[in-house]
Amino acid sequence: MPALVLLGAQWGDEGKGKATDLLGGSVDYVVRYQGGNNAGHTVVVGDQKYALHLLPSGILSPGCTPVIGNGVVVDPSVLLSELSGLDERGVDTSKLLISGNAHLITPYHTTLDKVSERFLGKRKIGTTGRGIGPAYADKINRVGIRVQDLFDESILRQKVEAALDNKNQVLAKLYNRRAIAADQVVEELLGYADPLSGYVADTTLLLNNAIDQGQVVLFEGGQGTLLDVDHGTYPFVTSSNPTAGGACTGTGVGPTKINRVIGILKAYTTRVGAGPFPTELLDDDGEKLRTIGGERGVTTGRDRRCGWFDAVIARYATRVNGLTDFFLTKLDVLTGWERIPVCVAYEIDGKRVEELPYSQTDFHHAKPIYETLPGWSEDITRAKTFDELPKNAQKYVQALEEMSGAPISAIGVGPGRDETIQINSFL
Ligand code: GDP
Ligand code: IMO
Ligand code: MG
Repeated sequence: MPALVLLGAQWGDEGKGKATDLLGGSVDYVVRYQGGNNAGHTVVVGDQKYALHLLPSGILSPGCTPVIGNGVVVDPSVLLSELSGLDERGVDTSKLLISGNAHLITPYHTTLDKVSERFLGKRKIGTTGRGIGPAYADKINRVGIRVQDLFDESILRQKVEAALDNKNQVLAKLYNRRAIAADQVVEELLGYADPLSGYVADTTLLLNNAIDQGQVVLFEGGQGTLLDVDHGTYPFVTSSNPTAGGACTGTGVGPTKINRVIGILKAYTTRVGAGPFPTELLDDDGEKLRTIGGERGVTTGRDRRCGWFDAVIARYATRVNGLTDFFLTKLDVLTGWERIPVCVAYEIDGKRVEELPYSQTDFHHAKPIYETLPGWSEDITRAKTFDELPKNAQKYVQALEEMSGAPISAIGVGPGRDETIQINSFL
């Protein structure tokens, strides 16, 4: 089983960090393939809690090599501070590898992200303000700066000047902001060359060789399926492809080499930022999910919007990612509800709809059709096997599996590594 993808099946924050960390001990490489430090992955190891943004969660597993693939956008200042934070806590970060083709987030990307959101007013996306969208826009527009450019001052200067020629006009004339001096940006970026030089590698070659030699490679997605720029709830999405295909373009590994695609699926639903969310709860139940589930953003500290499980979304994630398995997380959060509603379909303009509508207007009008399942009150955090779960918790999992279209191979019953029920092995 040489290569597998682990990705978010909903709107992010499904527990990907924990799931990746759990597998980290048994894989040779953990590779981030898209996104940047908009991600916030919490990993709990024993009594230690780590918040990772840009680094792959595999960095916490001593035998594993963490890789930042070409599809990631890298803010070098964030990267270095995350590395030094882990170094201070005794985590060995020396094995990290970074693709020279990954694009950089520069100070002007972060500025543009913030001012353009402010400019949108009520129509804002609610981005993390980390410069993700502007950095990807430059990549597609062929005016981006790549990690490898840090090592050639003259090319770096030319590229930064070319990018700023245009951006300074926009900043000054459209957003009424001061222009950014190219010299200052170049100087800052050159300062990252030395500390990063030891990490940069031809990660595409290395990962393909590793897979050919039978080593195990895990591709770790950031964000989630419904935040995908192609398959998500556009325009309320991030600017990359968290879906399975992103693992190929974001690393240079072909689809024929990937054997398994695991969707991380929360037992209920959350979303951060703006955009449609059919099962959102604006009542006491929503508040209860937020409190018990600790649903507060790791990156921005924003409260997450909360709602019941949505099987239409889970089925969609199975389809667009070709999921082979689900890892159901946070089942323990649902303990104590007498009855638990699950959205099985939508009502759109009076009609029952079983699949996610492609039309943005239809999705905005979708009303959830619920089936209600009986809850349980027993503490499940110590359950180690499926049989140890209360009967109603078993029925809840089985119902979700039937509705979602792929087997649930693991269940999270708490944030810790060992608070997991493994039903089928992932490797
Ligand atoms: P990610 O962005 O997908 O990695 O998820 P986050 O780390 O942003 O949010 C998931 C939160 O749920 C983190 O605080 C995890 O420690 C926590 N978590 C993960 N799995 C479980 C679980 O099965 N039960 C509980 N109670 N918490 C979990
Ligand atoms: P993890 O990896 C949840 C959301 C933002 C915003 C939209 C666009 O922790 O699951 P961006 O800054 O990416 O341009 O913002 O995407 N978003 C996330 N929501 N979890 C994340 O990452 C997210 N990363 C971005 O809130 O709505
Ligand atoms: Mg998160």
